[in-house]
Amino acid sequence: MGIKIISTGSTHPAKCVKNDDFTRIETSDEWIYSRTGIKQRYFASEETTSSMAIASAKKALEDGNINPDDIKIVIVATMTPDSFTPAVASKILAPLGINNAMAFDMNVACAGFVYALNVASGLLNDGYALVIGSECVSKILDMDDRTTCVLFGDGSGAVVLAKSDNKSLFYSKSKTDIDNILEATGLSQITDEKELTNFKLKMNGQEVFKFALEAFSDCFKDLENKSIDINDVDLIIPHQANKRIIQSVMRRFNIDESKFYINLENYGNTSSASIAIALDEARKENKIKPGMKILLVGFGSGLSWGYCLLEV
Ligand code: UT7
Repeated sequence: MGIKIISTGSTHPAKCVKNDDFTRIETSDEWIYSRTGIKQRYFASEETTSSMAIASAKKALEDGNINPDDIKIVIVATMTPDSFTPAVASKILAPLGINNAMAFDMNVACAGFVYALNVASGLLNDGYALVIGSECVSKILDMDDRTTCVLFGDGSGAVVLAKSDNKSLFYSKSKTDIDNILEATGLSQITDEKELTNFKLKMNGQEVFKFALEAFSDCFKDLENKSIDINDVDLIIPHQANKRIIQSVMRRFNIDESKFYINLENYGNTSSASIAIALDEARKENKIKPGMKILLVGFGSGLSWGYCLLEV
């Protein structure tokens, strides 16, 4: 048994930030676009991780004409919850009219959405699961650090899933032997509230870049071991971190660009929301048709990565 996608939805904050809006920190549209493929991203002002989760989930419920009473599982993948407790997943139940579901958050950073699909697939019996990736990464960005703040954005994507006869394949892996590659200030180091508000993301971009290529390589090897040829996959929706990572994958594994869905130009890296937003846009653009095999690949802090192969 596997899972099938019933419906999707996504949203982003109102405020659009163009590359030229960062010139105060000695960067340029030329540097950002040529190194990453990003042209703009959205930063939250009034929006929060939970308000965006509600907005994207409402669209997914409407898209599938789903009765909230039939939702049995709600998982929110996020590394930027509104608060440590309650979970975003708990906060959004009442506004969505969901009364009959287990609900919890998962933090696997940018790999979170794929991990959450995997967990939902294991837990789901009857009814539907609502899986959401929602992030306000801007809240943990150091806006004076040009090596990180230009890369990320905020947003949310949601998917309603049901059990299916088609087998979905999952694989996930965490690599915890490398420290200090992508981290924010450790909570254990925080001794007062001021430090907590200064909780900022730090990243060794080149190491994460190398890890991302390793992740794709492991993913393709795993598919091969399961006798699945990457050429038989119809669409690959990778975590939308950097176009150069995706182009390196195309070159190294000789995969045509047309197999990849890429929308990072408009959103930047929205961490666990990126694949969920891309999946929604790809569906709305009619790029996903019944019978297609879709490969989702997430990677990020942890270091963690995972994939999910779905037949839709
Ligand atoms: O979800 C996973 C999250 N992370 C990622 O996916 C990140 C993966 N890594 C990357 O995307 C790339 O490594 C970056 C985009 C982060 C950086 O690109 P790069 O080609 O690896 O650049 P670099 O780190 O080698 O930096 C080259 C130069 C440096 O200057 P010097 O030392 O050569 O003088 C940086 O200080 O570019 C400088 N630089 C910038 N210059 C203008 C770094 N950031 C900027 C900037 N504007 N925003």
